[in-house]
Amino acid sequence: MRQHVNPLSKNFDEIEKVPSLIEMFADPKLPLHLDIGCAAGEFLFELALENCSWNYIGIEIRERLIKTAKIKALEREMRNLYFLFGNFNNIAKNYHCKFLLEKANSMSFNFPDPWFKKRHYKRRVIQPEFIDLLSHSMQKESLIFIKTDVKDLFDYMDFIISSNLTFHRLGKNDINFSKAYNPNKIKTNREKNVISDNLEIFERIYIKK
Ligand SMILES: C[S@@+](CC[C@H](N)C(=O)[O-])C[C@H]1O[C@@H](n2cnc3c(N)ncnc32)[C@H](O)[C@@H]1O
Repeated sequence: MRQHVNPLSKNFDEIEKVPSLIEMFADPKLPLHLDIGCAAGEFLFELALENCSWNYIGIEIRERLIKTAKIKALEREMRNLYFLFGNFNNIAKNYHCKFLLEKANSMSFNFPDPWFKKRHYKRRVIQPEFIDLLSHSMQKESLIFIKTDVKDLFDYMDFIISSNLTFHRLGKNDINFSKAYNPNKIKTNREKNVISDNLEIFERIYIKK
């Protein structure tokens, strides 16, 4: 099993320079989705190829994975897909990256690291201060998608997000998936493994009001 990267390590205090949307994408006006903890980005390569009317940014704390994904995106000349290395909690807090939160139409947290021990909960990507930051930066009607096979982590994330009064839970029928970031319900790598192991998946969508 892979060792989780400790996001609170000082190694991630500094963040890479984030280019403007014009530098990242052929058409910076397209709706923007951020996938947090994208690993090697296979899910995003599939998504970006199928949905040319969205721009996608994958953010991942394991630098080697992002280096490889960046090269692959360049080689394939993908102009609606970009990758960023770093701890997203630090990226989100950085003044120069604020535009990412402001421009995002949606954000996904697919199978984030669970950090089972209570003393490690601080390492979980979803934290009350972080959701507070999103509530001040994300545009109205933007969406947050969470998905995990760990019930305890799901309850924890759901509690934190829905405790923030600007985010409201959406039912599956409240959203037009054909207009959302993943219209064909492409599955992430972790999701495919969870399905083949017959494990339950817990997911929820929130809208910013
Ligand atoms: C269990 S994997 C899931 C990968 C992928 N989303 C999927 O569903 O297959 C969680 C990923 O999140 C990354 N990660 C964990 N904390 C992070 C953080 N604070 N910022 C960015 N990436 C993070 C991990 O390195 C790992 O690649």
